[in-house]
Amino acid sequence: MRYVTLTDIYHHSITQKYVRRSGMAHAISVAHHAFDLAVKQEVNPDWAAKAGFLHDIGHYEWYSDGEWDYNLYREYDIHPIKGAERAHKLLVRLGEDKYAAKEIAHAILFHTDSALPQGEFQFSPLQKIVHLADEMDKQPGNLHHYRNIDNREELALIQQLDQKVEHYFSSISTKHQG
Ligand SMILES: [Fe+2]
Ligand SMILES: [Fe+2]
Repeated sequence: MRYVTLTDIYHHSITQKYVRRSGMAHAISVAHHAFDLAVKQEVNPDWAAKAGFLHDIGHYEWYSDGEWDYNLYREYDIHPIKGAERAHKLLVRLGEDKYAAKEIAHAILFHTDSALPQGEFQFSPLQKIVHLADEMDKQPGNLHHYRNIDNREELALIQQLDQKVEHYFSSISTKHQG
Protein backbone atom coordinates (compact mmCIF):
# COMPACT_ATOMS: atom_id res chain seq x y z
CA MET A 1 0.00 0.00 0.00
CA ARG A 2 1.22 3.48 -0.87
CA TYR A 3 0.78 6.12 1.82
CA VAL A 4 1.95 9.01 -0.36
CA THR A 5 1.67 9.53 -4.12
CA LEU A 6 4.02 11.43 -6.41
CA THR A 7 1.09 13.76 -7.05
CA ASP A 8 0.90 14.56 -3.30
CA ILE A 9 4.63 15.29 -3.31
CA TYR A 10 4.41 17.38 -6.50
CA HIS A 11 1.69 19.65 -5.05
CA HIS A 12 3.50 20.33 -1.76
CA SER A 13 4.91 23.87 -1.44
CA ILE A 14 8.33 22.54 -0.32
CA THR A 15 8.59 20.58 -3.59
CA GLN A 16 7.45 23.54 -5.62
CA LYS A 17 10.05 25.75 -3.98
CA TYR A 18 13.09 23.48 -3.88
CA VAL A 19 12.63 20.95 -6.69
CA ARG A 20 11.76 23.76 -9.08
CA ARG A 21 15.01 25.52 -8.11
CA SER A 22 17.13 22.80 -9.73
CA GLY A 23 14.65 21.94 -12.49
CA MET A 24 11.22 20.34 -12.34
CA ALA A 25 11.58 18.80 -15.81
CA HIS A 26 14.88 17.16 -14.78
CA ALA A 27 13.34 15.80 -11.55
CA ILE A 28 10.36 14.30 -13.39
CA SER A 29 12.55 12.77 -16.06
CA VAL A 30 14.85 11.19 -13.43
CA ALA A 31 11.77 9.84 -11.62
CA HIS A 32 10.62 8.13 -14.84
CA HIS A 33 14.08 6.67 -15.55
CA ALA A 34 14.37 5.46 -11.94
CA PHE A 35 10.95 3.77 -12.17
CA ASP A 36 11.90 1.94 -15.40
CA LEU A 37 15.25 0.78 -14.00
CA ALA A 38 13.64 -0.37 -10.74
CA VAL A 39 11.01 -2.46 -12.55
CA LYS A 40 13.76 -4.16 -14.60
CA GLN A 41 15.88 -4.84 -11.51
CA GLU A 42 12.98 -5.76 -9.22
CA VAL A 43 13.67 -2.93 -6.81
CA ASN A 44 10.71 -1.11 -5.24
CA PRO A 45 9.66 1.24 -8.11
CA ASP A 46 7.65 3.51 -5.80
CA TRP A 47 10.74 4.30 -3.73
CA ALA A 48 12.87 4.66 -6.87
CA ALA A 49 10.40 7.09 -8.48
CA LYS A 50 10.15 9.17 -5.29
CA ALA A 51 13.92 9.26 -4.75
CA GLY A 52 14.42 10.15 -8.42
CA PHE A 53 11.85 12.93 -8.21
CA LEU A 54 13.34 14.40 -5.01
CA HIS A 55 17.05 13.68 -5.63
CA ASP A 56 18.01 17.36 -6.21
CA ILE A 57 15.67 18.92 -3.61
CA GLY A 58 18.71 19.97 -1.56
CA HIS A 59 20.16 22.46 -4.05
CA TYR A 60 21.16 25.88 -2.89
CA GLU A 61 21.14 28.81 -5.35
CA TRP A 62 24.75 29.31 -6.32
CA TYR A 63 24.34 32.67 -7.97
CA SER A 64 26.90 35.34 -8.55
CA ASP A 65 25.98 38.32 -10.74
CA GLY A 66 22.68 36.66 -11.63
CA GLU A 67 24.32 33.56 -13.12
CA TRP A 68 24.71 30.09 -11.61
CA ASP A 69 28.34 29.87 -10.48
CA TYR A 70 29.63 26.31 -10.85
CA ASN A 71 32.92 27.08 -9.12
CA LEU A 72 31.05 28.14 -6.00
CA TYR A 73 28.87 25.07 -6.34
CA ARG A 74 31.83 22.67 -6.65
CA GLU A 75 33.60 24.28 -3.70
CA TYR A 76 30.73 24.39 -1.24
CA ASP A 77 27.95 22.07 -2.36
CA ILE A 78 26.24 19.71 0.10
CA HIS A 79 23.00 19.20 -1.87
CA PRO A 80 22.84 15.41 -1.34
CA ILE A 81 22.97 15.90 2.46
CA LYS A 82 20.54 18.78 2.49
CA GLY A 83 18.29 16.95 0.02
CA ALA A 84 18.22 13.71 2.01
CA GLU A 85 17.14 15.60 5.11
CA ARG A 86 14.65 17.83 3.30
CA ALA A 87 13.06 14.94 1.39
CA HIS A 88 12.84 12.84 4.55
CA LYS A 89 11.08 15.62 6.45
CA LEU A 90 8.67 16.24 3.57
CA LEU A 91 7.83 12.55 3.13
CA VAL A 92 7.25 11.98 6.85
CA ARG A 93 5.10 15.09 7.02
CA LEU A 94 2.99 13.76 4.13
CA GLY A 95 2.52 10.48 6.01
CA GLU A 96 5.07 8.26 4.27
CA ASP A 97 6.02 4.93 5.80
CA LYS A 98 9.09 5.61 7.98
CA TYR A 99 11.20 2.81 6.50
CA ALA A 100 10.42 3.96 2.96
CA ALA A 101 11.32 7.54 3.94
CA LYS A 102 14.67 6.33 5.26
CA GLU A 103 15.51 4.29 2.14
CA ILE A 104 14.54 7.18 -0.14
CA ALA A 105 16.59 9.64 1.94
CA HIS A 106 19.64 7.34 1.75
CA ALA A 107 19.28 7.03 -2.04
CA ILE A 108 19.26 10.84 -2.26
CA LEU A 109 22.28 11.10 0.04
CA PHE A 110 24.31 8.76 -2.19
CA HIS A 111 23.05 9.88 -5.65
CA THR A 112 26.25 11.81 -6.31
CA ASP A 113 29.72 11.74 -4.84
CA SER A 114 29.85 15.40 -3.81
CA ALA A 115 28.95 14.50 -0.22
CA LEU A 116 31.17 11.42 -0.02
CA PRO A 117 34.76 11.01 1.07
CA GLN A 118 37.03 9.22 -1.41
CA GLY A 119 36.96 5.46 -1.29
CA GLU A 120 35.13 2.31 -2.24
CA PHE A 121 31.52 2.04 -1.17
CA GLN A 122 28.90 -0.66 -1.41
CA PHE A 123 25.75 0.95 -2.73
CA SER A 124 22.33 -0.68 -2.50
CA PRO A 125 20.46 -1.44 -5.77
CA LEU A 126 18.09 1.48 -5.07
CA GLN A 127 21.01 3.88 -4.53
CA LYS A 128 22.65 2.74 -7.80
CA ILE A 129 19.38 3.18 -9.69
CA VAL A 130 18.89 6.79 -8.55
CA HIS A 131 22.49 7.64 -9.46
CA LEU A 132 22.14 6.05 -12.89
CA ALA A 133 18.73 7.66 -13.55
CA ASP A 134 20.28 11.07 -12.80
CA GLU A 135 23.21 10.36 -15.14
CA MET A 136 20.77 9.33 -17.91
CA ASP A 137 19.13 12.76 -17.86
CA LYS A 138 22.28 14.90 -17.62
CA GLN A 139 22.97 17.25 -20.50
CA PRO A 140 26.19 19.02 -21.46
CA GLY A 141 26.69 22.36 -19.71
CA ASN A 142 24.25 21.31 -16.97
CA LEU A 143 21.36 22.28 -19.25
CA HIS A 144 19.18 19.65 -17.57
CA HIS A 145 18.81 22.04 -14.61
CA TYR A 146 17.33 24.73 -16.88
CA ARG A 147 14.97 22.67 -19.05
CA ASN A 148 11.36 23.75 -18.62
CA ILE A 149 8.06 22.21 -19.50
CA ASP A 150 4.52 23.46 -19.11
CA ASN A 151 2.99 23.07 -15.60
CA ARG A 152 0.13 20.99 -17.00
CA GLU A 153 2.58 18.68 -18.72
CA GLU A 154 4.55 18.35 -15.45
CA LEU A 155 1.42 17.27 -13.60
CA ALA A 156 0.35 14.91 -16.39
CA LEU A 157 3.75 13.19 -16.32
CA ILE A 158 3.63 12.87 -12.53
CA GLN A 159 0.10 11.43 -12.61
CA GLN A 160 1.11 9.05 -15.39
CA LEU A 161 3.98 7.80 -13.21
CA ASP A 162 1.65 7.33 -10.22
CA GLN A 163 -0.57 5.18 -12.45
CA LYS A 164 2.42 3.12 -13.58
CA VAL A 165 3.48 2.55 -9.95
CA GLU A 166 -0.06 1.56 -8.94
CA HIS A 167 -0.39 -0.71 -11.97
CA TYR A 168 2.92 -2.38 -11.06
CA PHE A 169 1.76 -3.17 -7.53
CA SER A 170 -1.68 -4.37 -8.60
CA SER A 171 -0.15 -6.69 -11.23
CA ILE A 172 2.27 -8.06 -8.60
CA SER A 173 -0.55 -8.80 -6.15
CA THR A 174 -2.64 -10.47 -8.89
CA LYS A 175 0.40 -12.61 -9.78
CA HIS A 176 0.76 -13.66 -6.13
CA GLN A 177 -2.93 -14.48 -5.81
CA GLY A 178 -3.01 -16.46 -9.06
FE1 LIG B 1 22.24 16.11 -7.77
FE1 LIG C 1 20.19 15.71 -10.87
